Amino acid sequence: MAIRNARIPAMVAALLFLGAVTTLPYPTAEAKSKMQKQAFGKIQDGQSVDLYTLANKYGMTAAISNFGATLVSLKVPDRDGKLGDVVLGYDTPADYENGKAYFGGTIGRYGNRIAHGKFTLDGVVYTLPLNDGPNTLHGGVRGFNKRVWTAQDVSSSAGEALELTYASKDGEEGFPGTLLVKVVYTLVADENAVRIDYTATTDKDTVLNLTNHSYFNLSGQGNGDILQHQLTLFASQFTPVDVTLIPTGKLQDVHNTPFDFLQPMAIGVRINMADEQLKFGRGYDHNWVLDKKSPSSLGLAARAYDPQSGRILEVSTTEPGVQFYSGNFLDGTVHGKHGKVYAYRSAFCLETQHFPDSPNEKDFPSTVLHPRKTLHSTSIYKFTVQKAGDK
Ligand code: GLA
Repeated sequence: MAIRNARIPAMVAALLFLGAVTTLPYPTAEAKSKMQKQAFGKIQDGQSVDLYTLANKYGMTAAISNFGATLVSLKVPDRDGKLGDVVLGYDTPADYENGKAYFGGTIGRYGNRIAHGKFTLDGVVYTLPLNDGPNTLHGGVRGFNKRVWTAQDVSSSAGEALELTYASKDGEEGFPGTLLVKVVYTLVADENAVRIDYTATTDKDTVLNLTNHSYFNLSGQGNGDILQHQLTLFASQFTPVDVTLIPTGKLQDVHNTPFDFLQPMAIGVRINMADEQLKFGRGYDHNWVLDKKSPSSLGLAARAYDPQSGRILEVSTTEPGVQFYSGNFLDGTVHGKHGKVYAYRSAFCLETQHFPDSPNEKDFPSTVLHPRKTLHSTSIYKFTVQKAGDK
């Protein structure tokens, strides 16, 4: 079933109302959208949630659920043109609701960690639920990835696009202010890319850090580990952490450390080195400080190349940082899509973000949003291939 956007520009609606126009200069690209909508299943409270599938002319597809504004599947061609699903996930919304891995979810209100679940804003101390040892992780016990969002087809000539909105109440998971969040996923029409645009407004000062938590395996989900993937991180510094993965507040140069991915390097080469930071992360689970023109300009964050499939992923963002997480908590106990078992380090995340624990670090780029201001953030995940023998 094709879903159609019911929004008609106000002027056209007014003319229609007056009976002045009989032939409209439509259908628009919106009306031509072939976005597929299907029932995904029910969550615990009985609500039904849906799955929307966006496609482009190259055969790439992205399936997104309004449960958690979650990217459920992403099928992209390999070097032989064969489509493969390169993100981890589950088959049912109930699994997403019960899951602890945040597969593909939209993370908020605050992605990553806030130390001891506490921060002070405008002289008021806010206390958040602790769901990661002594800290708050990914927005608390029931973050944005476990909420039902309102979906709408906003496709245009730029590509099929799904808008998801969510109103997070004042005090939800301990955060101040009613926050209106909008996430638009666009499957780009003329290249194999997914673009995610975030906007948010608040009625009270608040903190926020929005990201997408997709787990990638460019050989295909459930298809071995990612230790041979070659990664480049366009970042000369990272934020070292303590044993609970809270930044120390310092920025550390990556040179001469296992955190130097300025040149392409297989993820597995140094992952088990005797290094305190790697020990704390059980591998890579750190925030890199991106070398961009300015922290908020749209620029390249990361590139990953899988020699097996030839697939290349390039991540660009307007965020100042990226959390590179090497799937260290995956342990073969999670059964994902189509019965695939997700083994240790069988996927990696590139979570574009502001730095962890920024509300408690005055020298990090601010994550405070004021009323009457709109937060804008964009991340693009672009896929290409490298043919065998290409350099
Ligand atoms: C983020 C965190 C990790 C882990 C994953 C989810 O990447 O930094 O420590 O919690 O999410 O498992």
